[in-house]
Amino acid sequence: MTQVVSPQTVTGRFDNKEFSFYGWTFRPEHVADEFWLHIQGSSGSPSFHRKLVMTTGSHHMQKYWYHTGHSRKIGLVPLVYLIESDLWVPEHTAFLQPTEPGLPVREGTWNKVCNQCHATGSQLRISGPDAMNTQVAEFGIACEACHGPGEQHVLAMLDVATKRSDLAVPLSIVNPRHLPPERSAQVCGQCHGIWTMTQAQISSWANTGHTYRPGDDLGASRRYIHGSEDQHLFDDIHGEDSFGQMVKFVSPAENITHCCDRLASRTRTVTIRK
Ligand code: HEC
Ligand code: HEC
Ligand code: HEC
Repeated sequence: MTQVVSPQTVTGRFDNKEFSFYGWTFRPEHVADEFWLHIQGSSGSPSFHRKLVMTTGSHHMQKYWYHTGHSRKIGLVPLVYLIESDLWVPEHTAFLQPTEPGLPVREGTWNKVCNQCHATGSQLRISGPDAMNTQVAEFGIACEACHGPGEQHVLAMLDVATKRSDLAVPLSIVNPRHLPPERSAQVCGQCHGIWTMTQAQISSWANTGHTYRPGDDLGASRRYIHGSEDQHLFDDIHGEDSFGQMVKFVSPAENITHCCDRLASRTRTVTIRK
């Protein structure tokens, strides 16, 4: 799940102990209800102190976000906390991504990428140079992700509850069980798959969110990448799984070509969890 940082939602070890990767030293600290990451760069470079505001993941691993100080843009801490192992690791050792030495700083990634699957009803909303007024309907994979917009349904059921109407009213909500098999699989595929979009689709998503709603034809709103037809994109990926993770290469608006090129160039090796 994606959640606001609090003592109830943080699973990571914030015990004020230091550890280092690539010459950078980290110290996760928990003070009252706040969670901080203190970062000391290599060889005399300045230190950073970031208050963590949001977290993604609650099952196998957890990642953390800090406010960048600019608009509603947030930055991703380049570490992952592995819950079962009780271990902090560099992000690229747990997530499939282009091999870059060190610990890349990624600001705006939530706004541009992750919120498409780790929240419902996401809209990037670029609001100025380097500024994002990103909005989501709900954090995490909430009901409407699979059942579609629920407002009419809720109003109708309130009417039933107050006896203004009876249950003979058809349910104004999608139940994936009643969709044809392909359409019901697409409800899950919207997040358990990877896609490319045309420039027009990207602009539309950035302003008003994805047009796909459960029950629609998923392929009408973006082009999904299929392992068999688009094999050249995946040739140098080792291992199974990974659809969820590979989206990083393909879905950030400005990275589509770049990332596909990288995938096709076969110049990288990739580390995956599992
Ligand atoms: C296309 C949809 C999609 C996008 C975009 C996406 N993810 Fe995910 N993410 C998934 C899916 C699906 C899983 C579960 C995969 C699995 O367990 O095999 C997952 C799993 C995770 C987990 C592990 C959760 C847990 O509880 O163990 C974390 C953390 C995570 N993603 C963070 C991110 C971050 C950070 C980004 C942006 C850089 C991102 N995801 C972008 C679909 C997505
Ligand atoms: C990840 C997708 C997903 C999410 C998120 C989700 N559902 Fe569902 N829901 C389904 C599927 C699939 C079914 C049909 C399951 C079946 O009957 O085989 C279903 C069935 C239901 C049913 C049963 C309908 C019936 O006819 O028996 C209800 C009620 C329901 N969901 C409510 C909710 C609520 C409330 C939430 C949010 C708290 C929610 N769902 C979140 C996928 C989802
Ligand atoms: C809105 C995006 C979204 C939709 C729709 C969605 N999922 Fe997921 N799913 C995710 C993400 C993100 C995760 C990882 C969440 C986490 O662990 O915090 C996940 C995790 C899972 C996992 C657990 C994987 C693991 O390794 O623990 C299963 C199984 C799964 N989803 C099945 C489904 C099925 C079946 C459907 C359709 C009924 C569905 N999902 C619909 C985004 C989605």
